[in-house]
Amino acid sequence: MKLPEKEQVLSNLSGFNVSEAEARQQEIYAAADSEIWRQAVYEPLHGGWDLACIAGRPFLNFIISDSALGPQSSVLELGSGAGAACDYLASSSNAAIVGIERNAAQCERARARRSDVRPGSLTFVCADASKWRASSPNFTCAYLLDTLSLVDDWDGMLSAARSALPEGQALYIADQCAGENIQADTLQRAYQLDGFLALRPAAHLREVLKNQRFGSVEQRDANADAIAAFSTMQAALGRLSATPASTIDPDVLAAWSELTDFYLAAFKNRELVYTRTKAW
Ligand SMILES: C[S@@+](CC[C@H](N)C(=O)[O-])C[C@H]1O[C@@H](n2cnc3c(N)ncnc32)[C@H](O)[C@@H]1O
Repeated sequence: MKLPEKEQVLSNLSGFNVSEAEARQQEIYAAADSEIWRQAVYEPLHGGWDLACIAGRPFLNFIISDSALGPQSSVLELGSGAGAACDYLASSSNAAIVGIERNAAQCERARARRSDVRPGSLTFVCADASKWRASSPNFTCAYLLDTLSLVDDWDGMLSAARSALPEGQALYIADQCAGENIQADTLQRAYQLDGFLALRPAAHLREVLKNQRFGSVEQRDANADAIAAFSTMQAALGRLSATPASTIDPDVLAAWSELTDFYLAAFKNRELVYTRTKAW
């Protein structure tokens, strides 16, 4: 059955169990320092940076140039994982960066980082970002990188971003959204595999942003980036499977290959659409 209407997609998502999905997310990201992540994601996609995302350095470079980041700037990431995106931004722009992350293991990894360029420029807070609020709205910009699709409470998350930003300063979001061909069983599988609670249509994000006083919103279809990323991962996993000396458990490799094939097909047939959003 095709689900072209936003309401139908959302009614499907509302059946998901938030605590069950969050437990799955905790388990996945606690293990994000494992060898399979390094060999299937960090090395082939991100030049060794431990970025658990699709958009990676091109997205971060866009933020640096679009917000003209420099030593006087301060940037907020909501859902900062192991802190690699924050580290990359600090190292590339000299800005001060604050990352909010609720997974304790990822937070610990992030806190072990030191920016090459400016000591003390990285701060990590271990908290649920949808409940966190800035003490004053004085950040230059904020961003979410492959995090919003894991979060049920979009209003809470975008309120956190709003609390950090003066009027007119930009919030950048890169994430997968429900595409025009989304099917109920694909939503169900993404929920079970990865705890994706909120694969909602891009139009829904525009509405929530407007409610949070982001008067201007630009969205762009970046699905080609997701297809390229999952194709690269598929090739990397194929090489690992063909390497007899690989130290990775064959069952783990098989599960990753299956998951990669699933997401690649979903992006190709536009059940999922990777989307870049700027709001200010
Ligand atoms: C796909 S990872 C991306 C991490 C990072 N942005 C990167 O690109 O490497 C999403 C991260 O968001 C975190 N996360 C999800 N919901 C969150 C919340 N409500 N508050 C803080 N972090 C959250 C997860 O624990 C996970 O580390």
